[in-house]
Amino acid sequence: MKDLISAKELTKDDIYSILDTAESLHEINRRDIKKTPALRGKTVVNLFFENSTRTRTSFEIAAKRLSADAVNFAASSSSTQKGETLLDTIKNIEAMQADILVLRHEASGAAKFIAERSGTCVINAGDGINEHPTQALLDIFTIRRVKKELERLTVTIMGDIAHSRVARSNIWAMRTLGMRVKLFGPPTLLPNDPKALACEIAADKREAVQSDVIITLRIQRERQGKLLIPSLREYSRFFGLNSEDLKYAPKDVLLLHPGPVNRGVELSSSLADGANSAILDQVENGVSVRMAVMCALRRQ
Ligand code: CP
Repeated sequence: MKDLISAKELTKDDIYSILDTAESLHEINRRDIKKTPALRGKTVVNLFFENSTRTRTSFEIAAKRLSADAVNFAASSSSTQKGETLLDTIKNIEAMQADILVLRHEASGAAKFIAERSGTCVINAGDGINEHPTQALLDIFTIRRVKKELERLTVTIMGDIAHSRVARSNIWAMRTLGMRVKLFGPPTLLPNDPKALACEIAADKREAVQSDVIITLRIQRERQGKLLIPSLREYSRFFGLNSEDLKYAPKDVLLLHPGPVNRGVELSSSLADGANSAILDQVENGVSVRMAVMCALRRQ
């Protein structure tokens, strides 16, 4: 691969290859000396035009653990503030002989636009409501580490699915692997055509939680023109998850959330911090998966 733009374009073999490489790199992150020379001499530039805690930090850590030089481009203090275009910005970074560009941008399609115009490897770290492929890969990696196999599992994605690039990338990758995907949320926050995504819609919360894995999502208020739910209190009651709801789920149900968590809205604190939660494992696994993705990319 030259780029990773979309989970939709990954084959089953691509996904398993990244998961297996991530598994082999995972123990490096638990060593005293967390370094391998796989990308020595390479330069990775993180270009985040939207806020991030987990993705930006884990790409930087992943690059450094692979012995690459990692540079963080600060959009808010860059010349984009003087009107420089995204493409001109990228061309200038490229002129400094960067090897991998990690791009987060509020515009859906931004990563594809750049990848098609750049000889440098591009990783989509989230583009608008479109895709967040490394989040899907780390979610699937986390599920496989706990459940051991993937293809017979049912995963429920709950919450603001319509505005979620995490949901979209997970749906594409999970469907490629043959996993069953159920969606649950208020009608205003469900995708327009779930059948096109080959997903089922759960009729109610009790049906939604009957699943091997539940991924809860935050309401993406920054992507909604006006709030598409009557109130957060009602949303939490009807579409959020708490310990009472989990009585109807399998005892070993795995709870995931891409973060940031709005505690008490889509997920109660007792569940976020409870025995079924793998939220911090997702964060740890994100480093291994991003290391694997960077190792898989080759300039053309
Ligand atoms: N999951 C995720 O993309 O989190 P950040 O926005 O903090 O990177």
